Amino acid sequence: MPGVFISFEGIDGAGKSTHIEGLAQAFRACGRSVTLTREPGGTPLAEKLRTLVLNDPMDAMTEALLVFAARRDHLQQLIEPALARGDVVLCDRFTDATFAYQGSGRGFEPAILSMLESWVQALPVTSRLRQPDLTVWFDLDPAIAAQRLAGARVPDKFEAQPVEFFRRVADGYAQRQAQDPQRFARIDAAQSREAVWQDVLSAVQNKGWLA
Ligand code: TYD
Repeated sequence: MPGVFISFEGIDGAGKSTHIEGLAQAFRACGRSVTLTREPGGTPLAEKLRTLVLNDPMDAMTEALLVFAARRDHLQQLIEPALARGDVVLCDRFTDATFAYQGSGRGFEPAILSMLESWVQALPVTSRLRQPDLTVWFDLDPAIAAQRLAGARVPDKFEAQPVEFFRRVADGYAQRQAQDPQRFARIDAAQSREAVWQDVLSAVQNKGWLA
């Protein structure tokens, strides 16, 4: 069976984690081999870069370069080999997060992000780029997300940002969806956890990847 690449996106507090885990179990129950991973991160080098990006103050360009460096290593060492084996790759965030956080949130030039994307995600031989086959976008009002995050844990650099930052990030996700609507499944993350799960499951079933 060909590999399947699914990414999960949304602002901090949108509640994607439990559903990613649930989907991994659903795929395994169907006999599929699952690679569960995240960005920034997923390889020893990329996890080191994650620690820097999430904790050290830096300008938006440095942040963008580090997340793309992490992504390059992640694609080469983990994602591409897993897809070649026929795995289902479930990735907690991918490049849409860079456009949303570094681009829209921090105001870094999207044209440069597009250029980095075209270098880092270039597939050999063809002129195609590696993109997720499906992006499950947990869309949630930043005010609700802030309530959910409040007191949950010690916030990292991004989680500590004010609600206005997350409004820009949410706009960034909406723009990415508008540019490539077929790739995205927008989930209303304000619903109950069970309703969100049903929508996530339907999005994957609609692609024919799960019975
Ligand atoms: P997150 O995915 O929310 O993980 P956790 O649930 O462990 O906190 O954290 C990753 C953070 O990194 C999140 O705030 C978004 C940010 N990020 C970027 O700013 N740019 C990127 O390209 C990626 C992938 C993530």
